Amino acid sequence: MPTTIVTGSTQGLGLAIAQALAAQPGHRVVLAVRDAARGESVARSLGGDAEVRRLDCASLADVRRFVAEWNEPLTGLVNNAGLQQVAGTQRSADGWEETLAVNHLAATELAVGLLPHLGGGRVLFIGSGTHNPENRTATVFGFRGARFTSIDALARGECDATSERQRGFDRYATSKLLNMVTAMELARRIPAKRTAFFTLDPGLMAGTGLARTAPAPVRVLWSTLLRWISPLLPDTSTPERSATAASWLLTDPGVVARSGEVFDFACRPSSRVWPAARDPELGRRALDETLALLGTALPAS
Ligand SMILES: NC(=O)c1ccc[n+]([C@@H]2O[C@H](COP(=O)([O-])OP(=O)(O)OC[C@H]3O[C@@H](n4cnc5c(N)ncnc54)[C@H](OP(=O)(O)O)[C@@H]3O)[C@@H](O)[C@H]2O)c1
Repeated sequence: MPTTIVTGSTQGLGLAIAQALAAQPGHRVVLAVRDAARGESVARSLGGDAEVRRLDCASLADVRRFVAEWNEPLTGLVNNAGLQQVAGTQRSADGWEETLAVNHLAATELAVGLLPHLGGGRVLFIGSGTHNPENRTATVFGFRGARFTSIDALARGECDATSERQRGFDRYATSKLLNMVTAMELARRIPAKRTAFFTLDPGLMAGTGLARTAPAPVRVLWSTLLRWISPLLPDTSTPERSATAASWLLTDPGVVARSGEVFDFACRPSSRVWPAARDPELGRRALDETLALLGTALPAS
């Protein structure tokens, strides 16, 4: 039975992806969530073949426990769990800056740890146009693009921004660059017929829980006005629309040959990828430094 793990599937895009997959007859969806009770409630609402496994991406020990407990073939992993922390620096259980830890380090550890079960399968990372300093929609909102220095420096929380909000934006944009770069680099190192790696650039999806640490007026705008006007803005989508693209990337037989590519919410190659993200040297450095920090290695093929 095709089986896909979706991390962070209690709300927002992850929930929509779980719904899209569960609607496919015979597709088993595993909700990898930190709040098991909410996960059970989602699983009941999905019907079909949905089950819950507890996973806290802010703890490397918990990610490793999750991986160690997984012992069956997998057709898909969706590294969706993510956060944007604009209310001050937070640390993961391992002492790493939380945005990097959850959005990038946990996603990479999961992908690498589950690789032995993903023969013939696919891994989907979730990117964002905010990584691109030339993306006008993102710069209007205050993003200035990814600012990759080194994985160690980012894990320590080093950041040259002068406000908490800008630090949060920079860290988020950088983590999303790293999601894309990691998918591209894994696709360079691992043959697509073994496991394929993709990034979905889901567009701006106003109203999700992503703005939860923003000041109250921003949260209200995010959930109301921005949601209403977003159809008029470029690069905007909804969790449901982007989930349809995710589902296509996870199941379409023809897309495997395009492992490493970034697709947008309309299932087209994304036009919002910063050219620097495609630099193989950046990919090599980002993955090697990440594996070194995690103390993990790619399994021998
Ligand atoms: N919304 C946008 O405009 C947008 C644009 C581009 C990319 N994205 C990406 O889309 C993905 C989903 O975001 P969203 O907008 O749907 O936001 P969301 O509604 O806040 O969903 C985020 C999910 O991640 C989970 N999560 C957060 N920290 C976690 C942790 N430590 N362990 C396990 N799960 C954790 C949350 O769990 P809880 O429910 O327990 O909090 C939630 O289910 C993220 O990767 C985000 O970067 C979003």
